[in-house]
Amino acid sequence: MEKQELINRIKELKKQTGAVIMAHTYQRPEIIDLADVTGDSFKLAQVAAKENYEKVILCGVRFMAETAKAMSPETAVILPAPKATCPMAEQISPEEVLKFRKENPDVAVVCYVNTTIQLKAVCDVCVTSSSAVNIVKNIPNKKILFLPDKNLGSFVAKMCPEKEVTIWNGYCPVHNAVPVDEVKKVIDMYPDIPVAVHPECPKEIVELADLAGSTAEIIDFAKAQKGDVIIVTERQVANYLNEKIEGRKFITPCPDILTCKDMDMTDLETLYNALKGEGGEDIQLDEDIRVKAKQSIDRMLELG
Ligand code: 13P
Ligand code: SF4
Repeated sequence: MEKQELINRIKELKKQTGAVIMAHTYQRPEIIDLADVTGDSFKLAQVAAKENYEKVILCGVRFMAETAKAMSPETAVILPAPKATCPMAEQISPEEVLKFRKENPDVAVVCYVNTTIQLKAVCDVCVTSSSAVNIVKNIPNKKILFLPDKNLGSFVAKMCPEKEVTIWNGYCPVHNAVPVDEVKKVIDMYPDIPVAVHPECPKEIVELADLAGSTAEIIDFAKAQKGDVIIVTERQVANYLNEKIEGRKFITPCPDILTCKDMDMTDLETLYNALKGEGGEDIQLDEDIRVKAKQSIDRMLELG
C-alpha cells in the first residue's frame, strides 16, 4: 500500500475504533505525526496513569507498554511490534536484586524505567532520565543502588554528591557505543552551536553537553535555541526536528550508531495491523507483579 493510503486508513481506523495512539519521541516522524500523545518515557507513564483510555496502541518498546498496562490495567494496551524490546531492560534479573537487598537492607533500590516489569516489582522506586536526579535527591536513604544503566547512574551520582550511589554495570547498546572522538569532531566543526546529550551516553560525552536530559527535554531545549543544535541521542529526534523546523540544522553525530533497531520496528504497516486487530501484542501482566511494579512507578510519579 502507498504511504499516504496507509496514513489515511490509520486515521479512519483511529476514528472507528476510538483507539488512542501513544508514541515515544524516538518513533519514526510519520508515527509521531499520527499519535494522540507523544513524549519521553516519564510523560507516557504519567498519561497512562491519569487517563482511562479503553484502548492504547503504544508505539515504542515493551517496557513502555508494560508500564502503561501496570498503571491502567483496564485499558487494552497493544504493542504493535512485539519483538521491540529494550536490550538494557534485560541486563539484570530480579533474583540478583533480591540477593542484593538481602545483603544490604539499608540501601534504596532505584531502577531505571527501562527494565522489565518483574524487575520493577522488586525495586523501591523507578526513575526516568528526566526524573532520576530529583527522585534520588528526594529519597530519604543515603545509600542508593542505581540500576541498570551505568551512564545515567554516574550522571545521577555526580548531581547528588550527598548520596552514596552504587551503580550497576548495564548500558544502552545504542548510546554507549557513541565514540567520544566522533562527537568532538562534530563539535570542532561547529564550535559555536549548543550540544544536547542523553545521559545514557558515556560520561565523557555528557561532560561536553550544554544540556543533558531526556528525549523530551532535548527536544524542548533544541526548539528553544535560535540556531542549529548538535543532538546526541537516537537519530529520529534530529530527523523529526529537521523535518518540522525550516532554516535550522539539527545534527546528530554518527546517526548509524545512534539507531535503535527496536524503536525502528514500528512502522506504518505494523501500526495499521495493530489497529485492525491483526497484529501486535495485547499486553497481559501477572496481577501480583503488576501491583508491586505499580508501587515503584507510583513512587516515581509522586517524587518526580
Ligand atoms: P527517555 O526517558 O528520555 O524518553 O528515554 C528513553 C530511552 O529509551 C532512551 O534511550
Ligand atoms: Fe533501550 Fe537504548 Fe533503544 Fe532506548 S535507545 S530503547 S535505552 S536500546
